[in-house]
Amino acid sequence: MSAYDLLFRHVATRVPAELTHRVGVTALRAATPLLPGRSLGTPVDAMGLRFANPLGVAAGYDKDAEGVRALARLGFGAVEVGTVTARPQPGNPRPRLFRLPVDRALVNRMGFNNAGADVVAARLAAVRSGPGAGTVLGVNIGKSKAAADAVADYRYSARVLGPYADYVVVNVSSPNTPGLRELQGVDALEPLLAAVREEVGATPLLVKITADLGGDGVDAVADLALAQGLDGIVATNTTVARSGLSSAEDVVSAAGAGGLSGAPLVEPARAVLARLRDRVSDRLTLVSVGGINSAAEARARLDAGATLVQAYTGFVYGGPAWPRRVLDAL
Ligand code: FNR
Repeated sequence: MSAYDLLFRHVATRVPAELTHRVGVTALRAATPLLPGRSLGTPVDAMGLRFANPLGVAAGYDKDAEGVRALARLGFGAVEVGTVTARPQPGNPRPRLFRLPVDRALVNRMGFNNAGADVVAARLAAVRSGPGAGTVLGVNIGKSKAAADAVADYRYSARVLGPYADYVVVNVSSPNTPGLRELQGVDALEPLLAAVREEVGATPLLVKITADLGGDGVDAVADLALAQGLDGIVATNTTVARSGLSSAEDVVSAAGAGGLSGAPLVEPARAVLARLRDRVSDRLTLVSVGGINSAAEARARLDAGATLVQAYTGFVYGGPAWPRRVLDAL
Protein backbone atom coordinates (compact mmCIF):
# COMPACT_ATOMS: atom_id res chain seq x y z
CA MET A 1 0.00 0.00 0.00
CA SER A 2 1.42 3.39 -1.00
CA ALA A 3 1.83 6.37 1.30
CA TYR A 4 -1.01 8.02 -0.58
CA ASP A 5 -3.29 5.02 0.02
CA LEU A 6 -2.53 5.13 3.74
CA LEU A 7 -3.07 8.87 3.90
CA PHE A 8 -6.27 8.53 1.91
CA ARG A 9 -7.59 5.82 4.25
CA HIS A 10 -6.97 8.02 7.25
CA VAL A 11 -8.31 11.28 5.92
CA ALA A 12 -11.17 9.57 4.11
CA THR A 13 -12.76 8.61 7.41
CA ARG A 14 -12.13 11.89 9.21
CA VAL A 15 -12.10 14.89 6.90
CA PRO A 16 -14.90 16.07 4.61
CA ALA A 17 -14.14 15.17 0.99
CA GLU A 18 -14.31 18.74 -0.24
CA LEU A 19 -11.79 19.94 2.34
CA THR A 20 -9.41 17.17 1.29
CA HIS A 21 -9.77 18.34 -2.29
CA ARG A 22 -9.12 21.97 -1.31
CA VAL A 23 -6.00 21.02 0.63
CA GLY A 24 -4.85 18.79 -2.22
CA VAL A 25 -5.15 21.52 -4.85
CA THR A 26 -3.39 24.03 -2.59
CA ALA A 27 -0.54 21.60 -1.89
CA LEU A 28 -0.26 20.83 -5.58
CA ARG A 29 0.02 24.52 -6.43
CA ALA A 30 2.63 25.13 -3.77
CA ALA A 31 4.64 22.16 -5.01
CA THR A 32 4.55 23.17 -8.69
CA PRO A 33 8.27 24.04 -8.97
CA LEU A 34 9.22 20.74 -7.31
CA LEU A 35 7.19 18.51 -9.61
CA PRO A 36 9.15 16.56 -12.22
CA GLY A 37 7.46 17.96 -15.32
CA ARG A 38 9.00 15.48 -17.68
CA SER A 39 7.09 14.46 -20.73
CA LEU A 40 5.20 11.17 -20.41
CA GLY A 41 3.42 8.94 -22.89
CA THR A 42 2.96 9.17 -26.61
CA PRO A 43 1.74 12.35 -28.36
CA VAL A 44 -1.69 12.52 -29.99
CA ASP A 45 -2.73 14.96 -32.72
CA ALA A 46 -6.42 15.85 -32.62
CA MET A 47 -8.57 18.84 -33.54
CA GLY A 48 -5.50 20.60 -34.86
CA LEU A 49 -3.83 20.38 -31.44
CA ARG A 50 -0.87 18.36 -30.26
CA PHE A 51 -1.46 16.58 -26.96
CA ALA A 52 1.70 15.33 -25.22
CA ASN A 53 -0.29 12.18 -24.36
CA PRO A 54 -3.96 11.12 -24.45
CA LEU A 55 -4.68 11.44 -20.69
CA GLY A 56 -6.39 14.61 -19.47
CA VAL A 57 -7.85 15.87 -16.19
CA ALA A 58 -11.64 15.95 -16.45
CA ALA A 59 -13.60 19.12 -15.75
CA GLY A 60 -14.49 19.90 -12.15
CA TYR A 61 -11.08 19.13 -10.66
CA ASP A 62 -9.65 22.58 -11.34
CA LYS A 63 -12.82 24.62 -11.73
CA ASP A 64 -11.14 28.01 -11.38
CA ALA A 65 -7.87 27.36 -13.23
CA GLU A 66 -5.75 27.52 -10.09
CA GLY A 67 -3.54 24.50 -10.71
CA VAL A 68 -3.07 24.16 -14.45
CA ARG A 69 0.71 24.15 -14.44
CA ALA A 70 0.93 21.77 -11.50
CA LEU A 71 -1.44 19.31 -13.17
CA ALA A 72 0.60 19.55 -16.36
CA ARG A 73 3.74 18.73 -14.39
CA LEU A 74 2.12 15.61 -12.97
CA GLY A 75 2.01 14.42 -16.56
CA PHE A 76 -1.48 15.16 -17.86
CA GLY A 77 -1.59 15.91 -21.58
CA ALA A 78 -4.62 18.16 -21.14
CA VAL A 79 -6.33 20.05 -18.34
CA GLU A 80 -10.00 20.90 -18.77
CA VAL A 81 -10.71 23.77 -16.38
CA GLY A 82 -14.26 24.63 -15.27
CA THR A 83 -17.09 24.29 -15.37
CA VAL A 84 -17.03 28.08 -15.50
CA THR A 85 -20.26 30.07 -15.58
CA ALA A 86 -20.80 33.63 -16.78
CA ARG A 87 -21.36 34.88 -13.21
CA PRO A 88 -19.51 33.79 -10.09
CA GLN A 89 -21.64 31.52 -7.89
CA PRO A 90 -21.22 29.67 -4.60
CA GLY A 91 -22.75 26.34 -5.62
CA ASN A 92 -24.92 24.21 -3.37
CA PRO A 93 -24.77 24.13 0.44
CA ARG A 94 -22.16 21.81 1.98
CA PRO A 95 -21.65 18.94 2.38
CA ARG A 96 -21.90 18.33 -1.33
CA LEU A 97 -19.11 15.85 -2.08
CA PHE A 98 -19.09 12.29 -0.72
CA ARG A 99 -16.85 9.24 -1.04
CA LEU A 100 -18.04 5.71 -1.70
CA PRO A 101 -14.63 4.04 -1.22
CA VAL A 102 -15.98 0.50 -1.53
CA ASP A 103 -17.05 1.37 -5.06
CA ARG A 104 -14.05 3.62 -5.85
CA ALA A 105 -16.71 6.24 -6.52
CA LEU A 106 -17.78 9.76 -5.56
CA VAL A 107 -21.15 11.45 -5.34
CA ASN A 108 -21.21 15.21 -5.86
CA ARG A 109 -23.79 17.94 -6.02
CA MET A 110 -21.35 20.83 -6.15
CA GLY A 111 -23.63 22.90 -8.39
CA PHE A 112 -21.00 24.75 -10.44
CA ASN A 113 -19.30 26.61 -7.60
CA ASN A 114 -16.82 28.80 -9.46
CA ALA A 115 -15.25 32.24 -9.60
CA GLY A 116 -17.03 33.24 -12.81
CA ALA A 117 -15.85 33.84 -16.37
CA ASP A 118 -14.14 37.20 -15.77
CA VAL A 119 -11.93 35.99 -12.92
CA VAL A 120 -11.03 32.71 -14.63
CA ALA A 121 -10.24 34.55 -17.87
CA ALA A 122 -7.80 36.80 -16.01
CA ARG A 123 -6.16 33.74 -14.47
CA LEU A 124 -5.86 32.05 -17.86
CA ALA A 125 -4.42 35.22 -19.35
CA ALA A 126 -1.70 35.10 -16.70
CA VAL A 127 -1.00 31.44 -17.49
CA ARG A 128 -0.75 32.29 -21.17
CA SER A 129 1.52 35.27 -20.68
CA GLY A 130 3.81 33.40 -18.27
CA PRO A 131 5.81 30.27 -19.08
CA GLY A 132 2.68 28.76 -20.65
CA ALA A 133 0.31 26.09 -19.46
CA GLY A 134 2.67 23.24 -20.37
CA THR A 135 -0.37 21.26 -21.47
CA VAL A 136 -3.36 21.56 -23.75
CA LEU A 137 -5.82 23.83 -21.99
CA GLY A 138 -9.52 23.09 -22.36
CA VAL A 139 -12.20 25.37 -20.96
CA ASN A 140 -15.56 23.88 -19.98
CA ILE A 141 -18.48 26.31 -19.75
CA GLY A 142 -21.93 25.93 -18.17
CA LYS A 143 -25.05 27.87 -17.28
CA SER A 144 -25.18 30.26 -14.32
CA LYS A 145 -27.91 29.09 -11.96
CA ALA A 146 -29.59 32.51 -11.95
CA ALA A 147 -29.55 33.00 -15.71
CA ALA A 148 -32.96 33.02 -17.39
CA ASP A 149 -31.47 33.14 -20.89
CA ALA A 150 -29.16 30.14 -21.23
CA VAL A 151 -27.94 31.07 -24.70
CA ALA A 152 -26.85 34.56 -23.64
CA ASP A 153 -25.17 33.14 -20.56
CA TYR A 154 -23.07 30.57 -22.46
CA ARG A 155 -22.36 33.17 -25.13
CA TYR A 156 -20.84 35.52 -22.57
CA SER A 157 -18.56 32.82 -21.15
CA ALA A 158 -17.51 31.74 -24.63
CA ARG A 159 -16.62 35.30 -25.55
CA VAL A 160 -14.62 35.99 -22.40
CA LEU A 161 -12.87 32.62 -22.08
CA GLY A 162 -12.56 31.50 -25.71
CA PRO A 163 -9.43 33.56 -26.44
CA TYR A 164 -7.49 31.64 -23.77
CA ALA A 165 -8.73 28.14 -24.58
CA ASP A 166 -7.10 25.54 -26.83
CA TYR A 167 -10.55 23.98 -26.95
CA VAL A 168 -13.97 24.83 -25.50
CA VAL A 169 -16.50 22.35 -24.09
CA VAL A 170 -20.19 23.18 -23.76
CA ASN A 171 -21.36 21.35 -20.67
CA VAL A 172 -25.06 20.49 -20.75
CA SER A 173 -24.77 17.38 -18.63
CA SER A 174 -24.31 18.24 -14.96
CA PRO A 175 -27.19 16.91 -12.86
CA ASN A 176 -26.74 19.68 -10.27
CA THR A 177 -28.04 22.76 -12.08
CA PRO A 178 -31.84 22.55 -12.39
CA GLY A 179 -32.90 22.21 -16.04
CA LEU A 180 -29.35 21.97 -17.41
CA ARG A 181 -29.62 18.48 -18.79
CA GLU A 182 -32.75 19.41 -20.73
CA LEU A 183 -30.40 21.50 -22.87
CA GLN A 184 -29.17 18.20 -24.33
CA GLY A 185 -32.39 18.01 -26.37
CA VAL A 186 -31.72 18.96 -29.97
CA ASP A 187 -34.13 21.93 -30.04
CA ALA A 188 -32.43 23.60 -27.09
CA LEU A 189 -28.91 22.55 -27.99
CA GLU A 190 -28.85 23.81 -31.55
CA PRO A 191 -29.11 27.56 -30.85
CA LEU A 192 -26.80 27.19 -27.89
CA LEU A 193 -24.02 25.57 -29.89
CA ALA A 194 -24.51 28.02 -32.75
CA ALA A 195 -24.07 30.98 -30.37
CA VAL A 196 -20.95 29.51 -28.78
CA ARG A 197 -19.47 28.69 -32.17
CA GLU A 198 -20.03 32.29 -33.25
CA GLU A 199 -18.03 33.49 -30.26
CA VAL A 200 -15.15 31.03 -30.36
CA GLY A 201 -14.57 31.09 -34.11
CA ALA A 202 -12.20 28.35 -35.22
CA THR A 203 -11.28 27.20 -31.69
CA PRO A 204 -12.15 23.49 -31.41
CA LEU A 205 -15.61 23.10 -29.89
CA LEU A 206 -17.00 20.04 -28.12
CA VAL A 207 -20.16 19.17 -26.23
CA LYS A 208 -20.19 17.11 -23.02
CA ILE A 209 -23.03 14.66 -22.49
CA THR A 210 -24.27 12.44 -19.68
CA ALA A 211 -24.30 8.69 -19.40
CA ASP A 212 -28.06 8.92 -18.84
CA LEU A 213 -29.14 10.00 -22.34
CA GLY A 214 -30.07 6.60 -23.76
CA GLY A 215 -29.08 5.36 -27.20
CA ASP A 216 -31.44 7.56 -29.21
CA GLY A 217 -30.42 10.64 -27.25
CA VAL A 218 -26.76 9.88 -27.92
CA ASP A 219 -27.44 9.48 -31.63
CA ALA A 220 -29.36 12.76 -31.72
CA VAL A 221 -26.51 14.70 -30.11
CA ALA A 222 -23.99 13.01 -32.40
CA ASP A 223 -25.99 13.97 -35.49
CA LEU A 224 -26.36 17.52 -34.27
CA ALA A 225 -22.64 17.78 -33.52
CA LEU A 226 -21.87 16.71 -37.07
CA ALA A 227 -24.47 19.03 -38.59
CA GLN A 228 -23.16 22.00 -36.62
CA GLY A 229 -19.52 21.38 -37.39
CA LEU A 230 -18.46 20.56 -33.84
CA ASP A 231 -15.01 19.07 -33.38
CA GLY A 232 -15.82 16.46 -30.78
CA ILE A 233 -17.86 15.04 -27.93
CA VAL A 234 -16.82 14.49 -24.32
CA ALA A 235 -18.61 11.47 -22.88
CA THR A 236 -19.57 11.06 -20.16
CA ASN A 237 -20.47 13.23 -17.24
CA THR A 238 -21.70 11.70 -13.96
CA THR A 239 -24.86 9.61 -13.68
CA VAL A 240 -27.89 10.08 -11.45
CA ALA A 241 -28.33 6.28 -11.38
CA ARG A 242 -27.27 4.29 -8.31
CA SER A 243 -27.42 0.78 -9.73
CA GLY A 244 -24.87 -1.95 -9.15
CA LEU A 245 -23.20 -0.33 -6.13
CA SER A 246 -21.48 -2.43 -3.47
CA SER A 247 -21.47 0.31 -0.80
CA ALA A 248 -23.84 -0.14 2.12
CA GLU A 249 -27.27 1.30 1.42
CA ASP A 250 -27.05 3.78 4.31
CA VAL A 251 -23.75 5.12 2.95
CA VAL A 252 -25.33 5.66 -0.46
CA SER A 253 -28.45 7.29 0.93
CA ALA A 254 -26.41 9.47 3.32
CA ALA A 255 -24.66 10.92 0.28
CA GLY A 256 -28.01 11.84 -1.19
CA ALA A 257 -28.70 13.42 -4.56
CA GLY A 258 -26.05 14.25 -7.13
CA GLY A 259 -23.86 12.78 -9.81
CA LEU A 260 -22.12 9.45 -9.30
CA SER A 261 -18.59 9.15 -10.74
CA GLY A 262 -15.81 6.59 -10.74
CA ALA A 263 -15.72 2.84 -11.30
CA PRO A 264 -19.54 2.39 -11.53
CA LEU A 265 -19.40 4.52 -14.70
CA VAL A 266 -17.18 2.09 -16.60
CA GLU A 267 -19.99 0.17 -18.31
CA PRO A 268 -22.21 3.19 -19.12
CA ALA A 269 -19.27 5.23 -20.42
CA ARG A 270 -18.07 2.35 -22.58
CA ALA A 271 -21.57 1.92 -24.00
CA VAL A 272 -21.89 5.60 -24.89
CA LEU A 273 -18.44 5.57 -26.50
CA ALA A 274 -19.32 2.56 -28.66
CA ARG A 275 -22.60 4.15 -29.70
CA LEU A 276 -20.89 7.42 -30.61
CA ARG A 277 -18.12 5.76 -32.56
CA ASP A 278 -20.67 3.76 -34.57
CA ARG A 279 -22.62 6.90 -35.33
CA VAL A 280 -19.84 9.32 -36.28
CA SER A 281 -17.04 6.96 -37.43
CA ASP A 282 -13.92 9.12 -37.52
CA ARG A 283 -15.62 12.46 -38.18
CA LEU A 284 -15.44 13.67 -34.57
CA THR A 285 -12.85 13.51 -31.81
CA LEU A 286 -14.27 11.43 -28.97
CA VAL A 287 -13.02 12.08 -25.46
CA SER A 288 -13.94 9.17 -23.21
CA VAL A 289 -14.33 9.81 -19.48
CA GLY A 290 -16.04 7.90 -16.69
CA GLY A 291 -14.48 5.32 -14.41
CA ILE A 292 -11.01 5.29 -15.94
CA ASN A 293 -8.74 4.23 -13.08
CA SER A 294 -5.99 2.21 -14.76
CA ALA A 295 -3.83 2.05 -17.87
CA ALA A 296 -5.81 -1.02 -18.94
CA GLU A 297 -9.10 0.89 -18.86
CA ALA A 298 -7.57 3.87 -20.65
CA ARG A 299 -6.22 1.50 -23.29
CA ALA A 300 -9.63 -0.17 -23.66
CA ARG A 301 -11.25 3.23 -24.38
CA LEU A 302 -8.59 4.16 -26.93
CA ASP A 303 -9.02 0.78 -28.61
CA ALA A 304 -12.80 1.29 -28.63
CA GLY A 305 -12.47 4.50 -30.61
CA ALA A 306 -11.65 7.26 -28.14
CA THR A 307 -8.99 9.66 -29.36
CA LEU A 308 -8.42 11.04 -25.87
CA VAL A 309 -9.37 10.01 -22.34
CA GLN A 310 -9.93 11.90 -19.11
CA ALA A 311 -10.25 11.05 -15.44
CA TYR A 312 -11.31 12.68 -12.21
CA THR A 313 -12.29 10.07 -9.64
CA GLY A 314 -9.51 7.62 -10.59
CA PHE A 315 -7.00 10.43 -10.02
CA VAL A 316 -8.55 11.29 -6.64
CA TYR A 317 -8.26 7.69 -5.44
CA GLY A 318 -4.90 7.14 -7.16
CA GLY A 319 -3.08 10.23 -5.92
CA PRO A 320 -0.49 12.53 -7.48
CA ALA A 321 1.64 9.68 -8.89
CA TRP A 322 -1.38 8.19 -10.66
CA PRO A 323 -0.99 9.92 -14.03
CA ARG A 324 2.63 8.84 -14.26
CA ARG A 325 1.74 5.24 -13.34
CA VAL A 326 -0.98 5.15 -15.98
CA LEU A 327 1.11 6.79 -18.70
CA ASP A 328 4.16 4.62 -18.04
CA ALA A 329 1.99 1.51 -18.40
CA LEU A 330 0.10 2.82 -21.41
C1 FNR B 1 -17.26 16.51 -11.76
N1 FNR B 1 -17.51 16.54 -13.13
C2 FNR B 1 -17.73 17.75 -13.76
N2 FNR B 1 -17.92 17.78 -15.11
C3 FNR B 1 -18.09 18.96 -15.75
O1 FNR B 1 -18.26 18.98 -16.97
N3 FNR B 1 -18.09 20.13 -15.02
C4 FNR B 1 -17.90 20.17 -13.69
O2 FNR B 1 -17.87 21.24 -13.09
C5 FNR B 1 -17.72 18.94 -13.01
N4 FNR B 1 -17.55 18.91 -11.65
C6 FNR B 1 -17.29 17.73 -11.02
C7 FNR B 1 -17.05 17.72 -9.66
C8 FNR B 1 -16.76 16.53 -9.01
C9 FNR B 1 -16.50 16.54 -7.55
C10 FNR B 1 -16.71 15.31 -9.75
C11 FNR B 1 -16.37 14.00 -9.07
C12 FNR B 1 -16.96 15.32 -11.09
C13 FNR B 1 -17.60 15.29 -13.91
C14 FNR B 1 -16.24 14.81 -14.38
O3 FNR B 1 -15.64 15.73 -15.24
C15 FNR B 1 -16.38 13.45 -15.12
O4 FNR B 1 -17.13 13.64 -16.30
C16 FNR B 1 -17.04 12.39 -14.27
O5 FNR B 1 -16.65 12.49 -12.93
C17 FNR B 1 -16.72 11.00 -14.76
O6 FNR B 1 -15.32 10.74 -14.74
P1 FNR B 1 -14.59 9.96 -13.53
O7 FNR B 1 -14.68 10.84 -12.34
O8 FNR B 1 -15.33 8.67 -13.33
O9 FNR B 1 -13.19 9.78 -14.00
